[in-house]
Amino acid sequence: MAEETQNISALMAEERTYPPDPEFTAQANAQPGFYDQDPDEFWEKEARERISWFTDFTKLKEWDRPHAKWYLGGRLNVCYNCVDRHVENGLGEKVAYYWEGEPVDDRLTITYADLQSRVVKAANAFKSLGIGKGTKVAVYLGMIPEAPVTLLALARLGAPFTFVFGGFSANALGSRMVEMECEYLITQDASNRRGKAAVLKSIADEAMDMAPTVRTCLTVKRTGSDVTMKDGRDQWWHDVVDGQSDDPASCPCEPMDAEDMFFLMFSSGTTGRPKGIVHTTAGYLVGVATTHYYVFDIKPDTVYWCAADIGWITGHSYIVFGPLANATTSIMYEGTPDFPDKDRWWDIIERYRANVLYTAPTSIRTHMKWGAEYAQRHDLSSLKVLGSVGEPINPEAWVWYRENIGGGRTPIVDTWWQTENGMILVTPLPGITTLKPGSATRPFPGVKAAVYDEEGNEITPGDGAGYMVVKEPWPAMFRTLYNDDERFKETYWQKFPDAYLAGDSARVDEDGDFWMMGRIDDVMNVSGHRLSTIEVESALVDHPEVAQAAVVSRADATTGQAIVAYVTLKEGAEGSTEKLTELRNHVGTVIGPIAKPANIVFSNELPMTRSGKIMRRLLKDVAENRELGDTTTLADPSVVEELKARSES
Ligand code: WT7
Repeated sequence: MAEETQNISALMAEERTYPPDPEFTAQANAQPGFYDQDPDEFWEKEARERISWFTDFTKLKEWDRPHAKWYLGGRLNVCYNCVDRHVENGLGEKVAYYWEGEPVDDRLTITYADLQSRVVKAANAFKSLGIGKGTKVAVYLGMIPEAPVTLLALARLGAPFTFVFGGFSANALGSRMVEMECEYLITQDASNRRGKAAVLKSIADEAMDMAPTVRTCLTVKRTGSDVTMKDGRDQWWHDVVDGQSDDPASCPCEPMDAEDMFFLMFSSGTTGRPKGIVHTTAGYLVGVATTHYYVFDIKPDTVYWCAADIGWITGHSYIVFGPLANATTSIMYEGTPDFPDKDRWWDIIERYRANVLYTAPTSIRTHMKWGAEYAQRHDLSSLKVLGSVGEPINPEAWVWYRENIGGGRTPIVDTWWQTENGMILVTPLPGITTLKPGSATRPFPGVKAAVYDEEGNEITPGDGAGYMVVKEPWPAMFRTLYNDDERFKETYWQKFPDAYLAGDSARVDEDGDFWMMGRIDDVMNVSGHRLSTIEVESALVDHPEVAQAAVVSRADATTGQAIVAYVTLKEGAEGSTEKLTELRNHVGTVIGPIAKPANIVFSNELPMTRSGKIMRRLLKDVAENRELGDTTTLADPSVVEELKARSES
């Protein structure tokens, strides 16, 4: 049986339950009865309790399907909510970030007052360069303090941004800047990765060649690596920022409308063109602050660590905006988990007495593979809540996480959500929920999630799997796709007349708990990163010697899914080990290293239907060593047999 099928049946058979510990319940932020609240009253109360408004909102929401608006009439500023008000409220000396660089002993403690000073200086510098309300800015940074500082400074000025993950290629960064028409780019020379410098500025240079709208680029000096600075366009961060005033009054927080665009996050869809997911100001902030507070049981003295990268939505919502809105003390780590050794994470948790760790199943499985002895070298007794996000967590990894990291004691919150959602939508609440390894359990209060059958009827709990949907808008919901409202409607709102189509399959068990079962479309999930098959195919076909490519994913014990590509070369070109490396690197250049196929199978032909469609389902069977499914619609059934033989050789 293929691994994926095994995992799914393991999920189906999983019967272990972990009821909440009464001691945890007694002190929990979410108390029994939490689910009984009226959703509208809940979101109104949270908005007033958690957020400071310059002008109060006059209407909770407007729902003109599929367009939602929240907190209408309200005016606020995200930077004010995340930084200034905490300093005004006497929390200036509280630690905002324990920042840990990758080189050992390279660390900083940044208080809320320090953060304010850094943000005001950066905002003043940005202003001096011409950035103001509505100016569009791209950010291409690693995990350094300037990353949250930049986002907060842009929020202070009301400048919408797109943060592109540092592992993305010049092409990916360039096309995103073109799509958003960015006028500025903030980057760094290079980033520390496993003891080496991973360049960013030279990639940014190539990207700017593609994106002529970018007129100014600021570069943070982090590693001291060589960079080329273009006259009239490029400036060092320290030259422009260091001399600025850090007096908050010198650069007031711009009052923004609740529905003003806050940022764009590009994400893979089912076609090659990445989707610009639009998040707005108030609903997003209320959504991330509220979920962060209840899901991770945040207390005034909590030390919290989300080990994602700021370049992903997880980092935006749960390293930067949610935690800071709640005046939380967070850990931020620059590098890889195995530098200088495989116990780096556990060393960090012990050093800062972290209470919360939020990471992805792929990381948990990597640590599992390395062995529990690395964790055992450290005192992890400070941990109170463990989180998981990005893909379904297999029960083995769940139990390992709880036993070896959580000391058999901590609740695990398996949080299901998407870039589009902005905030966690389905999750256990620690102290309330009886946990089941592999189940994300229940929709967050005020979130109307359900599972539909093909006809759009809600499947009765216990009655099998279907389409994951959400029936009512939630505050942090994306508002549209940038410059493409048609695609927004088609992708998410066409299949069912009354619900948001998430693109995942799921089932609800007899107790009403949700079990997520992966994507139903051509979106792959590699180490929790979303990539579309078509995107990788386009990158392959972009190579001069590739005639045709078909990409599928197969189950992988560590990364969840791994990419397998079937490639037909043009006449005269030969498949070889060198060609394989060349094509992998080509994909790395076009999209980014995360998209490099794990395997490439060269073939003279690909299995096509008589109408000329590539049969990906069969290729998946081949990739996963399964018995071949129905081949009767194939134009030439011998092609798959041939491929099977090649894949095995
Ligand atoms: C897709 C969204 C927003 C978090 C980072 C990923 C999968 C995410 C879970 C989970 C099962 C999950 C889904 C979803 N996913 N979390 N807890 N259990 N699947 O964001 O890149 O937008 O990907 O990740 O398939 O559709 P994203």
